[in-house]
Amino acid sequence: MLEDDFSDVFRKAKRGTGVDDATIAKRTGLAVADLAAWTKGEGIPGEDAARALAPLLGLDPGKLADLAAQRWEPHVGYPADVRHHPHDPHPSNGYLFHLEDGRTAALIDPAGLPATLMRAIGEGPYALRYILITHKHADHCDATADVARAFPDAQIVMHRADVAAIGSLAHKALPITDGEALPFGDAAEIRMLHTPGHTDGSSCFLFKSTLFTGDTLFAGSVGGAFGDVSTYDAILERVRTKIFNLDDATVLMPGHGPPSTVAEEKAHNPFF
Ligand SMILES: [Fe+2]
Repeated sequence: MLEDDFSDVFRKAKRGTGVDDATIAKRTGLAVADLAAWTKGEGIPGEDAARALAPLLGLDPGKLADLAAQRWEPHVGYPADVRHHPHDPHPSNGYLFHLEDGRTAALIDPAGLPATLMRAIGEGPYALRYILITHKHADHCDATADVARAFPDAQIVMHRADVAAIGSLAHKALPITDGEALPFGDAAEIRMLHTPGHTDGSSCFLFKSTLFTGDTLFAGSVGGAFGDVSTYDAILERVRTKIFNLDDATVLMPGHGPPSTVAEEKAHNPFF
């Protein structure tokens, strides 16, 4: 199931563009009462209505109509070197990926109940080299202290703009910047892409042909714009220029919802 349905995308796009129901009604002839209901997830627009309102919000008409009618969902498997674990009790995704040796590993987003998280990490003989944090929200980093204590050799990596969220561990975090690569094993590396907008420090991490997107990009949607200084437009611009210029086959592992690929998002994400 996709993370965001029509009502989520409709709300995010209205908030992001500043276009309200009254304006949409005036420009399209749609009823304000219907727009208000769709905003709350009560009913969905038909094909013609979805296509009519999309351009006013900068959304793609055909892709938005497909979302409203639930005609698309990605079916992407996890690469062999990536393991997924749902955060308990948060509704967010955690990931662990490793090198060919099956040992040298990195964790994406230490969050949720420490015992559940440790069980996920403990499923293999993993030596955690990095604790990579996509952004400052609690459902992505509230177990940082527990994981750091269990794996004292693991380097915490988090963008400077968000790092205050991990409290006294902030001074131990590597303040990585856009495009910087972290060495991983003898031959591999992990590259960080700074994609502000959801939060100012929102970061994606690229390992081989897998990109961990945090709450910047979901299958069929984007994260809400909650940055202090960065904006909704920044999210869209960074996805276009930094994520969509990766290889089409790049697998996307978001902070919420199912995995996707660059090709699938280009073809189906209504924000683009
Ligand atoms: Fe978030």
